[in-house]
Amino acid sequence: MPQTINILFLASEAEPFIKVGGLGDVAGSLPRALRALSTEDLKLDVRLVLPHHPAVKAESLKPLGMFSILRNGVEIQVEASETVLNGMPVYLIGGEPIRASGSVYSLNSALDAEKYAFFSLAALELVNHTRSDWQPDVLHGNDWHTALSMYGSLTKRWEEGTRHVASVITLHNLPFMGPDASAIIESYGLKLAQTDLPEWARVMPLPLGLWASDAIVAVSPTYGREILTPEFGCGLDEFLNSRGEAVSGILNGLDVDSFDPAVDPALGANFDILSLEKRAGNKALLQERLGLPRDPETPLLATVSRMDIQKGIDMVFSALKMMKKTKWQAVILGTGDPKLEAAAMKLQEELPDRVKVETRYDAGLARQIYAGSDMFLMPSRYEPCGLSQMIAMRYGCVPIVRAAGGLNDTVKHGVTGFVFEKAHHMALAAAIKSAIKVFAEREKWQSLQRAGMAQDFSWENSARKYLELYQSLLKKA
Ligand code: GLC
Repeated sequence: MPQTINILFLASEAEPFIKVGGLGDVAGSLPRALRALSTEDLKLDVRLVLPHHPAVKAESLKPLGMFSILRNGVEIQVEASETVLNGMPVYLIGGEPIRASGSVYSLNSALDAEKYAFFSLAALELVNHTRSDWQPDVLHGNDWHTALSMYGSLTKRWEEGTRHVASVITLHNLPFMGPDASAIIESYGLKLAQTDLPEWARVMPLPLGLWASDAIVAVSPTYGREILTPEFGCGLDEFLNSRGEAVSGILNGLDVDSFDPAVDPALGANFDILSLEKRAGNKALLQERLGLPRDPETPLLATVSRMDIQKGIDMVFSALKMMKKTKWQAVILGTGDPKLEAAAMKLQEELPDRVKVETRYDAGLARQIYAGSDMFLMPSRYEPCGLSQMIAMRYGCVPIVRAAGGLNDTVKHGVTGFVFEKAHHMALAAAIKSAIKVFAEREKWQSLQRAGMAQDFSWENSARKYLELYQSLLKKA
């Protein structure tokens, strides 16, 4: 009989069921990558649990039946169902608080707090209602939306003597801690614990989840160190420092089968590291599609990003404005903050023959941009991991990034891209200028492209690190 580790993996979103941002990519890939590590001696039985948002797309759902949890002494129905994704059981949790807040993340923080508290606590109960007598050895949550599971698991063990389940929380974005949930927590019969968190944080889902978790994993080693500093610790740096070795960083992977320029159906010309010359076809097609002059010699700069101040997209606009004397073209794809979208449109009006802006979500165009542009700009003010710079490298598009979080861990200055320190548009402009100089030297440029394409960003490396972490926690228990 192989040894088995049962893992309940909780997230607010996961591909292919529902995806809003990078978290959806991770939660769609990591559980399957973990299961793929199973051997004859060790079975990793990972099961995914998601809220049944109205927008979730799931096939052949089987109801698991109804059960209820108590809120202020009143029973609230949990409508659980099950489906399978490549052999992995996936549970969906539905119910009134999940329907009430409509979209995955609502602008109404009270609705979101209700929804994710309900989801987190119902997920703990769910394991008593699956078809088998499956129980998790590890509870693995992600961000504030699932953090009350970790908290609930610990406080229930203390109050009710339930069994010990090791707990891990992955941090994708520390500033988002969830709203004050003290009243909601108490309404579900949980006590607010005496924590060593700062006072303001003692009522918020994420800090409570961090406090209750056995291990806290940031999505890159650099972000794992950054959150220990006052600059990036969001007021929790002292607390996080006090957790010592429980805090670590594991770099996310990339779905290298989906993001493969050799077979990507969105591209006009497929290519790989040995047929890099074919890439030029994608640049020509992209310039044509965007209505830019079709010129292989003009460096084509790109951003594919949420329009968010976190991403430093404003620095891109300012840097480009200062570089009118240099020859370049730029494409900017993304939606988000209306002010940033307006600023992008203004830049396009100013430089209509050089700048093309598309303010929408377009996965196909994004892939054509990775495959057809020369340089990828990602000057994020902070970046827990970041996915786009990895996709860009895999598609032979050389990244120009700020030395933040996962950008710092994935891009090697002068080897696979350009890395600059200061979060200022002048620093970005200087980095772009030095990239443009190298671009003119064909051989040198191609070696940067090839080095990027040769990087291994597959999920297997990350999944192995998570497995080691689970094993070390289970040994301690
Ligand atoms: C968040 C972070 C991003 C990270 C993603 C997945 O969106 O901002 O850096 O790549 O989560 O972990």
